[in-house]
Amino acid sequence: MRILGLETSCDDTSAAVVENGRVRSNVVSSQTALHAPYRGVVPELAARAHLDNLMPAVARALLIAGPGKLDAVAYTRGPGLMGPLLIGKVAAQTLARILSVPAVGVNHLEGHVLAAELEHRLRWPALALVVSGGHTDLVLAKGPGRYRVLGRTRDDAAGEAYDKVARLFGLGYPGGPEIDKRAAKGNAAAVAFPRPTMAGTWDFSFSGLKTSVLYLLKGRKPLGRELNDLCASFQEAVAETLVDKTVAAAKKHKAKDIVLGGGVAANLRLRALMVERGEAAGFSVRLPARALCTDNAAMIAHAAGRFLTACGSGTSARYRAVGASCDPNLPLRSWA
Ligand code: KG4
Ligand code: ZN
Repeated sequence: MRILGLETSCDDTSAAVVENGRVRSNVVSSQTALHAPYRGVVPELAARAHLDNLMPAVARALLIAGPGKLDAVAYTRGPGLMGPLLIGKVAAQTLARILSVPAVGVNHLEGHVLAAELEHRLRWPALALVVSGGHTDLVLAKGPGRYRVLGRTRDDAAGEAYDKVARLFGLGYPGGPEIDKRAAKGNAAAVAFPRPTMAGTWDFSFSGLKTSVLYLLKGRKPLGRELNDLCASFQEAVAETLVDKTVAAAKKHKAKDIVLGGGVAANLRLRALMVERGEAAGFSVRLPARALCTDNAAMIAHAAGRFLTACGSGTSARYRAVGASCDPNLPLRSWA
């Protein structure tokens, strides 16, 4: 099954072709430079940039993938920014109608969970940690389309905490990659930031950690070695908090694999610590390549492929008859 995927939920415009779980092309057109002066994503600008960038990204993805008939067009149906999502949806439904194939709406978070499958065979149940700019969800995945959210953040998402703390440090946007780079040169034991546990729940909270950085700095912008140490210490607190709860949940729910997804899953320290502590507890830790952690259309195309296969209909005449109006609710509803 060969699927064209479109991802336009936030500030990256992406188009990809995935064939039977293999990435044939994955084009990402970043809007980072456009939003950087505002130190955050401006929804209206993002929508306009998607309009300009989406069709060139589709053309490039199809060119790189090479010839071959498409069986479906997948798009991110949510969660995300309304304007950018609508642009992806209208484009996908139009292309699907022209090609007489189904348009499949995919939950963005499901895409992040299943991204690891593009490189690894997952064993179910898997315990997935989805950490992005908008989400910090701990998910028990019993199989494709079968998810239970065990816990989530009660305030800032992990990526949001990275971005806000980077701003306190005087670093640019997005802050996650900047902190990651500086942390590699710093001492993680320099400052003992709090590790919020939210005991008795699978939830997370990062606002207290962010506030402790604010109080420590008192408006000062650190530089040089002190900045590197602060980045490393903050990063260690976030990574330990995420890893310890994920491994505990995996034990409790007898998961076979631990899976990471979302932009923060590109963080080098989080990846290393998850492998270290997850494997010490007896789990296989499945990490997508860093480019498949941040927003991309390959994960959306793959999740749609899983959905279509699970429907048992593939590209059958019955499924085709439903055509572009087929916009299955299952992936979104199953994300309870
Ligand atoms: O999944 P994603 O690309 O978009 C959303 O769905 O939100 O995640 C973006 C988030 C941003 O907050 C960004 O700072 C963070 O992921 N991020 C990182 C790293 N790369 C991206 N955070 C920490 N370390 C990184 N290397
Ligand atoms: Zn995302």
